[in-house]
Amino acid sequence: MAQDTLTKHTKEQENTMNAKITLLEKKQAEALLGGGQKRIDSQHKKGKLTARERIHFLLDEGSFEEIGMMVTHRSKDFGLDKEQYLGDGVVTGYGTVNGRLVYVFSQDFTVFGGSLSETHAEKICKVMDLAMKNGAPFIGLNDSGGARIQEGVVSLGGYADIFYRNVRASGVIPQLSGIMGPCAGGAVYSPAMTDFILMVENTSYMFVTGPNVVKTVTHEEVTSEELGGAMTHASKSGVTHFACANEIEAINNIKQILGYIPQNCEEDAPSIPYDFKGSELRPELNTIIPDNANQPYDIREVIEKVIDDNSFLEIHKHFAENIVVGFARLAGRSIGIVANQPAVLAGVLDIHSSTKAARFVRFCDCFNIPLLVFEDVPGFLPGTDQEWNAIITNGAKLLFAFSEATVPRITVITRKAYGGAYDVMNSKHIGADMNYAWPSAEIAVMGAKGAAEIIFKNEISAAANKEEKWKEKETEYQTMFANPYRAAERGFIDEVIKPEQTREKLIKAFKMLENKVDKLPKKKHGNIPL
Ligand code: HXC
Repeated sequence: MAQDTLTKHTKEQENTMNAKITLLEKKQAEALLGGGQKRIDSQHKKGKLTARERIHFLLDEGSFEEIGMMVTHRSKDFGLDKEQYLGDGVVTGYGTVNGRLVYVFSQDFTVFGGSLSETHAEKICKVMDLAMKNGAPFIGLNDSGGARIQEGVVSLGGYADIFYRNVRASGVIPQLSGIMGPCAGGAVYSPAMTDFILMVENTSYMFVTGPNVVKTVTHEEVTSEELGGAMTHASKSGVTHFACANEIEAINNIKQILGYIPQNCEEDAPSIPYDFKGSELRPELNTIIPDNANQPYDIREVIEKVIDDNSFLEIHKHFAENIVVGFARLAGRSIGIVANQPAVLAGVLDIHSSTKAARFVRFCDCFNIPLLVFEDVPGFLPGTDQEWNAIITNGAKLLFAFSEATVPRITVITRKAYGGAYDVMNSKHIGADMNYAWPSAEIAVMGAKGAAEIIFKNEISAAANKEEKWKEKETEYQTMFANPYRAAERGFIDEVIKPEQTREKLIKAFKMLENKVDKLPKKKHGNIPL
């Protein structure tokens, strides 16, 4: 071929390609605008970010790779064939958070209110499948009017396709849900099956049926915020783990959680290098427990003084505050903490605290995060409310979760360990690897006052001064059992330690347990009392 023909060809090819590139760029620009500038402005006016802005703040700069930007819906009914938007109301793809791979979807409220169509669901499923095959966390940013009403059952089918994948992925890869806007109807069940939910105050809500239906059915008048706002779900129902002041806080919390957890169930929890700075003794711990055993103290103070500086990320902070759970670092290594909170309801175990802790224990166990328990518990909460609402079944969840966990497990009894709650709170008997007690520990079937009343009933009623006799017997019981030594004699406690030694002991013990291998008997799955 002559040189000039070759040049001409190349020129023609270049022109054709340029025209094609221009078309691509035009389409890309169109996709970036979602439902158009007017709707983007309206989103901003509501104090909300757009789907793409959320991804921008979540992922490392320049790391986002979009999948399915040109997808459009296939609907023809109700004139939908004349209303098409590239991307169909959801932005999907992958990128990195602090250098680690994650998969993401972010619903675009500017396109049909972020409602879920058949193709919208297919896009989400595609990234879920990739996340599963490649073993990386899956993050959903929800902002949607629910099922695309014009599509009918295909939209419902799309939801079910997502639910099914949520369940398949559970315990395999971490799944996190940011609720950045409406999330109603059956749509709430996808986030509900993920590991962590983060809601934004005043701009997001979750409910199965909204205020209008509630009014019709139960005649209750309630606002969206009261019914299913962030604080409602953070404090009353426990549906959400975080109530965030704004979207940026929610996104930052997602990033923080990711920092403590592995990419998938086959990896270890991430560590950061730890610089040993000399003594690990913490003398401040010696003065936290009040002289009076009935006086409260804040278990967070103990946690903060034991773990690496400022490393505690509390989960479910506003729900069942009588138990505290969260991630922390100990000598750089990620751990999960479960701690009775004597400052709230004396740290008693009840329905909500049991289910809150059980869920957290199971998450840590799924993802190889060692567990540390601080115990100061007077027992289970008595009463008809608790019994009729199944404290038996719900308390059993925590017992089940600890017993089933195969990660390294350590307990520190700071003060009370009474009754069934002693067994439940990661006791030696249910598989804890190391059990420490402070000298202030009281390990017994029940508190001395109640115990004296029962076992010395006859003696007390026969005494001339009943009050005095009761006090005397209470002291007798207290001297005998309100200490850690009976349990230590039996080996139920491995060591009674000075509070100041706690951090040092835990660092060494978790290091010793680093290569722990413990397997459950072969089974399809256990049957946790739901
Ligand atoms: C199609 C929808 C839509 C939906 C909203 N839009 N929801 N389009 N299907 N489900 C569209 C609106 O027509 C509007 O289009 C745009 O999104 C923004 O909606 P607005 O109403 O203007 O916004 P706002 O005032 O902020 O109210 C948001 C809203 C409200 C509270 C979410 O739109 C709403 O109540 N939507 C319907 C919610 C619902 O009943 N969904 C079905 C639930 S049943 P334009 O063109 O004006 O921008 C369900 C079953 C799931 O989801 C089952 C799974 C198992």
